[in-house]
Amino acid sequence: MMSSAKLERDKKLKKLRMILKENRNKEGILLEVLTKAKDIFEVLDEEIQMEISKGLNIPLAEINGVLTYYTTLNEESMGEYNIGICLGTACYVKGSQDIIDKIESILNIKVGETTKDNKFTLNATRCVGACGLAPVMTINDEVYGKVDLEDVNQILEKYM
Ligand code: FES
Repeated sequence: MMSSAKLERDKKLKKLRMILKENRNKEGILLEVLTKAKDIFEVLDEEIQMEISKGLNIPLAEINGVLTYYTTLNEESMGEYNIGICLGTACYVKGSQDIIDKIESILNIKVGETTKDNKFTLNATRCVGACGLAPVMTINDEVYGKVDLEDVNQILEKYM
């Protein structure tokens, strides 16, 4: 027997495929399709991104790029400072999870949340392409490399 979650997902996938079919070969349709897909699934995981890539015949990388842009645009309650901690492999093995834990406890928020005063938002990111500097932490456009657990307080204080 199929689980109801699976059935539900299949139903959603069907809906998505219909949208993809309608929009195939249309120009500049990606953002619109992604918006619709987001309404259906909330989270566009890799399987769904692949589906969209195949359905619209658009490279996965392009979809990924638009999605990243789109997420930033739609971030509902972004704080003044957006803290990103890289959880890519290189950063992870150098302890970026500990950095996240520490920031969570300092700011009293979880990943994805914003402090009550709207000052800081904490996010975990994928590899930001600075693996040589692992572990990497970003605050808005500022990149901090080789972040030591002991440095975290000091870095945050600059923004407080
Ligand atoms: S893994 Fe963190 S920058 Fe590449």
